[in-house]
Amino acid sequence: MIKKAIYPGSFDPLTLGHMDIIERSSKIVNELVVGVLNNSAKNSLFSIEERVNMIKEMTSSLPNVTVGSFDGLLVDYMEEIGANIIIRGLRAVTDFEYELQIAQTNHVESPQVETIFLTTSLQYSYLSSTIVKEFASHGGDISKFVPASMVDRIYMKYKK
Ligand code: PNS
Repeated sequence: MIKKAIYPGSFDPLTLGHMDIIERSSKIVNELVVGVLNNSAKNSLFSIEERVNMIKEMTSSLPNVTVGSFDGLLVDYMEEIGANIIIRGLRAVTDFEYELQIAQTNHVESPQVETIFLTTSLQYSYLSSTIVKEFASHGGDISKFVPASMVDRIYMKYKK
């Protein structure tokens, strides 16, 4: 019985690949929380407030999806919000080792926590926030990578 799940990540910025996982996983769980990592050590392009607000905007048509932010351990945040399932997207075999490590660590730390992996839709299997930032920083076309309303907001970050 899957009740409340979390889809955690940095989402800096949210890509169409992330949106795909959010839409698909929201259909298989009762409640989905998109959990944005507030990692102060990481130099992020968008502030935590900007990322949370953008994801809220992009998911407003999905009634069982909410957005929150956390710092510290994911399992601690999950306990706080009463979630027991972690959703992660797997793009390629290169993702697997890292994802396996995190999933197993989280499960050892909190045995009630399970991780469910969704394979990324084929058209987004190459996509990552890092690639989007790299492209945008050189003025490349990112319209196939991120939701339409985010394109200009990303370019703006690179305007001097
Ligand atoms: O989008 P990302 O950067 O691949 O997401 C990674 C994330 C946020 C899922 C992971 O770094 C995370 O959960 N960080 C919080 C600290 C934690 O609980 N780490 C997992 C145990 S090592």
